[in-house]
Amino acid sequence: MSTASQNKVTQTINELYNDSRNDMFKMMKGAAKSIFRPMQPSDFEEAYLSISSDQGEHLKQLIEKYHLKNIVEFGTSFGISTLFLAQGVVETGGHIITTELLESKAKRAIENFKKADVNDLIEVRIGNAIETLKDHDQPIDLLLLDGWKDLYLPLFKMLEPNFHAGTFIYVDNANMSDSRAFLKTIAASGKYNLAPMFGGSVVLVTVN
Ligand SMILES: C[S@@+](CC[C@H](N)C(=O)[O-])C[C@H]1O[C@@H](n2cnc3c(N)ncnc32)[C@H](O)[C@@H]1O
Repeated sequence: MSTASQNKVTQTINELYNDSRNDMFKMMKGAAKSIFRPMQPSDFEEAYLSISSDQGEHLKQLIEKYHLKNIVEFGTSFGISTLFLAQGVVETGGHIITTELLESKAKRAIENFKKADVNDLIEVRIGNAIETLKDHDQPIDLLLLDGWKDLYLPLFKMLEPNFHAGTFIYVDNANMSDSRAFLKTIAASGKYNLAPMFGGSVVLVTVN
């Protein structure tokens, strides 16, 4: 991809980060709705909840370094992480399947992908990831887990037949309690290597 095209993606990412400045307020507003009931994704319909730019750069470099092509993402939100993934796959000739439960968020993500001119590299599946990815039967080179944490384990198990010796599973918010339980379970299987990074907020899982 040309430098000008990469710059277009970077510009879109920067605009989205700029727009996400009020996320803390939106998150608190969302959390306040859930005082008398469990939190729901719709409580955070306005919030980006995105990965950091350092994480995004790391994902992009991971894709380029290991020449990863087949990327699956759980939790699109407005598409910041997906745009970093896109910056990687434009260099490797790969593509991305990303899935988002909330239609309003998915639609805004699609607009952002069009604006960055990478929409042809990204398939957005709207709905519950357990449904939208249930028939996935293609090799996965990189799985980014960044949706609701209680689904990490069932989703991982569902997609596990598509993993291969060179698969990476990038677990965001790895220090949350549901994520820790998930990581404990897969570590106990002995089939995976777990490498904490970003102070433990991310764990990069590889196949033993
Ligand atoms: C932490 S945000 C994703 C942030 C995004 N990866 C980024 O870095 O820009 C998590 C997203 O997962 C979505 N989500 C939650 N449960 C889901 C499900 N069952 N299937 C698909 N998406 C889900 C939420 O609506 C939310 O937008």
